[in-house]
Amino acid sequence: MLPIRLLMTSASIMADPCVLVIFGASGDLTARKLIPALYDLDRQGRLPRGFTVLGVSRTPLTDDAFREKMLESSRQFSVNFDPARWPAFAARLFYHAGDGASPDSMPGLAKRAVQLASETGTLRQGGMPNLLFYLSVSPNLYEGIINNLGVSGLVAEGHRWCSINADATAWQRIIIEKPFGTDLPTTVSLNQALGRVFEEDAIFRIDHYLGKELVQNIAVMRFANTIFEPLWNRNYVDHVQITAAETVGVGSRAANFYDSAGALRDMVQSHLLQVLCMVAMEPPSVFDAPAIMREKIKLLNSCVPVRPEHAAKFGVLGRYDRGPKPEDRAYTEETGVDPARRTETYAAMRLNFDNWRWAGVPFYVRSGKRLATKLTEIVVQFRRPPVQLFGKLDPSLANRPANRLVINIAPREGISLRIEGKVPGAGLKLDSALLELDYLERFGGESIEAYGPLILDAIRGDRTLYKNRDEVEIGWRICDPFIQSPQLRESIALYTPGSWGPADADRLFHANPSAHPGDSASGWHNPTSEDVR
Ligand code: BG6
Repeated sequence: MLPIRLLMTSASIMADPCVLVIFGASGDLTARKLIPALYDLDRQGRLPRGFTVLGVSRTPLTDDAFREKMLESSRQFSVNFDPARWPAFAARLFYHAGDGASPDSMPGLAKRAVQLASETGTLRQGGMPNLLFYLSVSPNLYEGIINNLGVSGLVAEGHRWCSINADATAWQRIIIEKPFGTDLPTTVSLNQALGRVFEEDAIFRIDHYLGKELVQNIAVMRFANTIFEPLWNRNYVDHVQITAAETVGVGSRAANFYDSAGALRDMVQSHLLQVLCMVAMEPPSVFDAPAIMREKIKLLNSCVPVRPEHAAKFGVLGRYDRGPKPEDRAYTEETGVDPARRTETYAAMRLNFDNWRWAGVPFYVRSGKRLATKLTEIVVQFRRPPVQLFGKLDPSLANRPANRLVINIAPREGISLRIEGKVPGAGLKLDSALLELDYLERFGGESIEAYGPLILDAIRGDRTLYKNRDEVEIGWRICDPFIQSPQLRESIALYTPGSWGPADADRLFHANPSAHPGDSASGWHNPTSEDVR
């Protein structure tokens, strides 16, 4: 059977040779994620011939020194490091010392990119290579780099992207890391800056959660099976939970990024809303980028707006306290944290969607650092059967747990459905059991870092797993009231490291006006680390 990944993307579109220009090449993301993921792709024979990486950063480094650094990190962070495959990959890596934020750097950069493509015989008509820019720099540098690219001559004016580059004209595309803006106005401004230089079809706003196998599998599960979709609505679903929990603290990221972001900006506005879209959007008429984006936008637009003054009713913020070990510092003790900012390391929200399918079904979304276990999962909690047939016979058989579908995204990849069954033997006793699918065990294949396939999609020009302009803007419109609510920030609660966050987060369930009394055992699904292994 084909691996699901191949079914999901336009694998049939040939990947053109190109130069991937990474701004921020000496940074953490490049070392820990991008290069190891590209190495894994190369090892699997999935990179196009003539593909090269040109790392750009201010730090002076030779090509060899850059390769040496990337070797270290690929050894550590690639899924499966094979030293025999390294030299061929290393030969694709080059480095250029330059400051993307300075227009003066652009002529040197352009010359180097053209020279590289010329050496590998991959120049297109007009003497330019295909260029994929990757902004892996501090977000405050985005607009400057984009503007510089606009005047650099590297991006052809009015150039329209096309998927099959039949006339061999060079294309230019750009991948932008999150955080994409810090609120709605900054996002609109960034989108405008991008729009002045690139066509929307050439802009790839990356969200690595969309590259995770089990997130992609949500669409296959829903739309390639008959049994889920008829139940996937307000008639049968009591509520949905989406959790992204981490055991690590913020550490050194506090100073340079996290303290001015917090969990809502870092995780909820981006990753969790995207996962939610895959769970809740309507089926697209075809499985391509424009159709999927249309459905996601429709869904996000139907989110019931929450005003900042009411956000404390629909949200809970927390930050982790000191742990039992001396090295387990409280968030406010991390270097670079300004306690007065009251930045959250935990956020939970209850969202409602005013549409035909989901009216009255709450979606609970939460994410936090230093929680009990590392896991990302979706819980679809179904309602109880309409009649308590067995409860009428024997009251102890009433109110049995309702069906629950859990989609494990990470670290375990799988799906489990809780059903009720009769315990064998005389008399009638009921118990719950799980029907489980272990995704990797069943479908095989290597679990690969999400960044690799996403970059490959950008080389192919496939935006199916990327976000468009409207999605990110509406995402901010949903989250901004929570981020900006003084009442919510005032009420930020401390939580014990290793717990499931502030106890107050349970109140989101109790205060649910649309709950069907007695329909489900409402509350967060908090599995143990044993359960998620
Ligand atoms: C990143 C966030 O986007 O995702 C980090 O900035 C977070 O704060 C990370 O730790 C989590 O990703 P994953 O794939 O480990 O769940």
